[in-house]
Amino acid sequence: MAVAWHTFISSKPPLYGVSISAKRFTYQLIADSKEFGINFLPFEAAELVASVGGSKGSEIDKFQRFNIAQSKPVRTAVPILEAAYAAYECRLADDRGYGDHRWLVGEIVAVHWLKEVFTPDEVIDWAKVSPILYLGNELYITTSKDTIRSLDRKVYGRG
Ligand SMILES: Cc1cc2nc3c(=O)[nH]c(=O)nc-3n(C[C@H](O)[C@H](O)[C@H](O)COP(=O)(O)O)c2cc1C
Repeated sequence: MAVAWHTFISSKPPLYGVSISAKRFTYQLIADSKEFGINFLPFEAAELVASVGGSKGSEIDKFQRFNIAQSKPVRTAVPILEAAYAAYECRLADDRGYGDHRWLVGEIVAVHWLKEVFTPDEVIDWAKVSPILYLGNELYITTSKDTIRSLDRKVYGRG
């Protein structure tokens, strides 16, 4: 499925959170298996995001229908997509309801990443990959390297 509501929560231990409605087929898979994968896709994969976010796993096999190539996970059985520039394998650590969604917390137990699209400081290299960002209302956008600014918080924090 496509998920717009997600975030890093903790670095030690490494925890990642996603907000998923209990109505999703994906939620049932996670509740049963107690694990999930997070795949970060480039802007070129926008149609794929709209496709998996517009169809139900209870009705079709999305891997087959959308021709989704997978790489092998190393510590879980979660789907890792070949198209992803980074992906996490997570074990479910918590599952709570907030309003009409569930907040799922996963401990990251394995990381997959294309080293060549990250800088030596492990920051995404904008010249090599454009991440996909969702604005809402079926609109997708990406970053522009013309707008990047390096602002040292230690310097700016002094006022
Ligand atoms: C760009 C995009 C972002 C979405 N974000 C979320 C989200 O954060 N949480 C959620 O529960 N559903 C979200 N959805 C909806 C699910 O991806 C959609 O309901 C999907 O069909 C669920 O698939 P499943 O039934 O196979 O699990 C999003 C859909 C799109 C297109």
